This record gives sequence, C-alpha cells and structure tokens, in this order.
Amino acid sequence: MELLIKNGTVVNADGSYVADVAVRDGNIIMVEQDIRPETMTEVVDASGLLVLPGAIDVHTHFELPFGEISSADDFFSGTRAAACGGVTTVIDFITPERGESLVEAFEKRNAIATPKACIDYGLHMGISEINMAVLDEMEAVVGAGIPSFKVFMTYASRITDEEFTKTLSRAKEVGAVIMVHAEDHEALEALRAEFIVAGKTDAWHHYLSRPEAVEAKAVEKAVSLAVDTGSMLYIVHLACAEGLAAVEIAKKNGYPVYAETCPQYLNFTCDVYKQPDGRNFVCSPPIKGKESQDALWRGIKNGSINTVATDHCPFQTYEKDRGVNDFTKIPNGVMGVENLYPYMLSEANKGSLSFERVVELCSSTPARIFGCASDKGAIAPGFDADIVLYDPSLDFVISQKNMHSTIDYTIWEGTAIKGYPVRTYSRGVLVYKDGEFRGTPGHGRFVRRCL
Ligand code: URP
Ligand code: ZN
Ligand code: ZN
Repeated sequence: MELLIKNGTVVNADGSYVADVAVRDGNIIMVEQDIRPETMTEVVDASGLLVLPGAIDVHTHFELPFGEISSADDFFSGTRAAACGGVTTVIDFITPERGESLVEAFEKRNAIATPKACIDYGLHMGISEINMAVLDEMEAVVGAGIPSFKVFMTYASRITDEEFTKTLSRAKEVGAVIMVHAEDHEALEALRAEFIVAGKTDAWHHYLSRPEAVEAKAVEKAVSLAVDTGSMLYIVHLACAEGLAAVEIAKKNGYPVYAETCPQYLNFTCDVYKQPDGRNFVCSPPIKGKESQDALWRGIKNGSINTVATDHCPFQTYEKDRGVNDFTKIPNGVMGVENLYPYMLSEANKGSLSFERVVELCSSTPARIFGCASDKGAIAPGFDADIVLYDPSLDFVISQKNMHSTIDYTIWEGTAIKGYPVRTYSRGVLVYKDGEFRGTPGHGRFVRRCL
C-alpha cells in the first residue's frame, strides 16, 4: 500500500467510526482498526481529524462561453480551486452548437478538459434543440459515459413543453436523467420589458424580474411533465419554496424527481441585490427571500433536497461591471466550487445538520443520481481514494486572497467558517495540503458514468 491514514474518524453517509484507511494503486483497499503499514507506505496521522469522501460538485461551468466572454475559471484553475475546497470530482457541461453532433461536441469538450483537469471530472450534455438526430444520438451519448442531459426553460436555448416531453421520454428509454434550468421565460421577459421601459435597471430589478413565482411556475411545469412520462428529473439550482413544494409532492407520490440547491441560496437572501455591489451576486435563478431560504434549509434537513452543488460560473469584476447601470448586461453566475464542502461542513460543525448528512448531500447522493457510485462517494474498500482530511477545530475566514480560483473577488468575502479541509487526495495522490494546491494538470480523468 502507498498510503495509510491512521486514527481518523471515517465519516460516510450511513455513519462514522474511528478507523485506519489503506490505499493501494489509487484505491481504498481496507478500512479497519490497527492496519500495519508496509515498508514503503506513507503513514499520515489523522487523530482528531475527520476522514471524508471527497465532494462531488455535479454543477460547474468552467470556461463557459457567454457572448464574446467566458466564465473566469478554466478546467485547470476550476479544478485547482475545487481540490483546495475538498472537491474530488466535478461534473461540467457540454454546450453543442446548433446542428452539431452531440458525440463530436463531447469529444471537443473532453479534449479541452483532459490536459487541464487536476481532479476527476464528468460531463453532462446540454440540449438546446430537439429533432430526430438529437433524440437518436442520445443513446450514443449515454454509451459514451454521459447519462445526463440538461435542458433550459428560458434563454435562447429554451425548449418547448412538447420538446421537453419528447426528451424526457427518450431519456427514460436510453437510461438517462434530465436536468432542467426552470424559470418561466414568458413571465420573466414580460417583467424585464416592464422594468427596462420604466428605467428600473439596477441589480435589485434582476431579482424582481425573476422572482419566486417565475421559478415556481417553471418548476411546477417541469415536475408535471416528468410525472406524466414517469421519467427521472433533476431540478438544478432550486432556489424557491414553492418549487420545492412541487418536488416534495412528486417525491411523496413515488416519482423519481430530484432537487439540487446551491450554497449561495442557503447563505444569502435577495437583499444582497440592494447592496452597492449587488451585481456581483447576479445569477439565475436569483437568490430569493428569507421564506425560500428557510424552506431550502428545511429540505436539506428533511431529505427533500437531494444534493448541494455550486453552479460555479464566476465572471471578473470588470465583466460584472458591464451591468453597473443595466442588470440585463450583467453576465450571470457566481463562484462556489471551493466553498461548497467547507460551508456545508461548517454548518454541520455548528450543529445545523450532521456531518453524515453533508456527505450524503455533497458526495454519496450526487454519485448515485449521476451514476458513479461504484467508485465514488464513500470511504470503503473498492472505492477510489478520493479522500478529504478535515480539521473541525480550525477557524477560517474566506477571502479572495485565500481562494485558488482566478476570480478577482468572492461573494463569500469575510464569511467565517468553522473547521476546514487540511488535505485532499485524488485517487490516492495528494492535491491539496494546508492551504496550498499540490496537484498537477492532467491528473484528472474523465469519469464514464452509467445509471
Ligand atoms: O447564473 C447562472 N446560474 N449561470 C450559469 C448558467 C446556468 O444557468 O446554470
Ligand atoms: Zn442554470
Ligand atoms: Zn448552471
């Protein structure tokens, strides 16, 4: 064995206990008490530390084109930041051009990611047009290790209800999950137009043009289409109470409907858009009011929220500044890949939820929903040695200066975090230690997934 982590508290979704963790060839081979090292084994004393499966952030946008600019982190800086926050797998997106073969779009995106990724990564397939060729090719995409497709109910790439139904049905046939960005296009366009005519163009009106009701209407529609087809549906970045209520009803009736929320919706309220730097918080769906925040926390605690992922899609200050006088010009998206696990674990450390539940939300359930649970999401023999050592006694204050992304600000500036990761291993290789990145581009592998 190359690595032996001794005397830590192993935390999985189903329980915690003190044990040693032995790693050979990048895999966990034993989790037991009193394992003896071999001659060449590196022994790490984890007394007083938690030994966690690495987080799986199933929602990142590295180098995402947005008009003529791109989101700030590429696959190198994005996965570097991820590793430093205890994330050992990300799942990013492929955005095919109209008319482009989905498999070719995958090959192009994968060629960009492979030499840069410092940790393992998967890809979801974006779908922006529905026709026979696209529906046909979905099977080959699943065969290539991508059993997850994302559709939009707004933006230029939105699909109609009829197309949505066809996609859901086809996904069921080929063994895939449909992810949806749910905001009602007509409703938000009408509000936007009204505000622009009235000259109400500050960041607060970004929120007012996409309020709770706009998101709820689309979530309710998406859930009802999934219920009609009996297909697997995953609502990305759920941010409102009424949307969660629709998800809860479908779940109660036994439908495979899943919900993801993001740390920004759990930690902030829409009041941030009234701040002078409100544009820096602009993302879609926008951060909602306190009632929604409370409902999301209830969902985290009672199980109706399945995953927490980040929607990491930051833009530099000067790019956000384009919208200083007009919210419609602000590139949408905020940062979070380095904050996900520390923030959620800090909440556990403060007593809001258990460490096991955080592992479930950020690692084991994402692995199960997205089809990589045979290798990732637990500290157990046979699993990849994607391991985070976490010191619950550390105090950490988030600042742009101690983050590892390329972004020049953070919405998390000044946030106090109780406890922090001290080491991250990706398949047994140390990629982060005590505040410093230790990984290498090209180490990360494409994760072929299967549902
Ligand atoms: O504002 C956001 N969320 N930007 C990233 C793209 C998306 O819609 O998820
Ligand atoms: Zn989205
Ligand atoms: Zn997104």
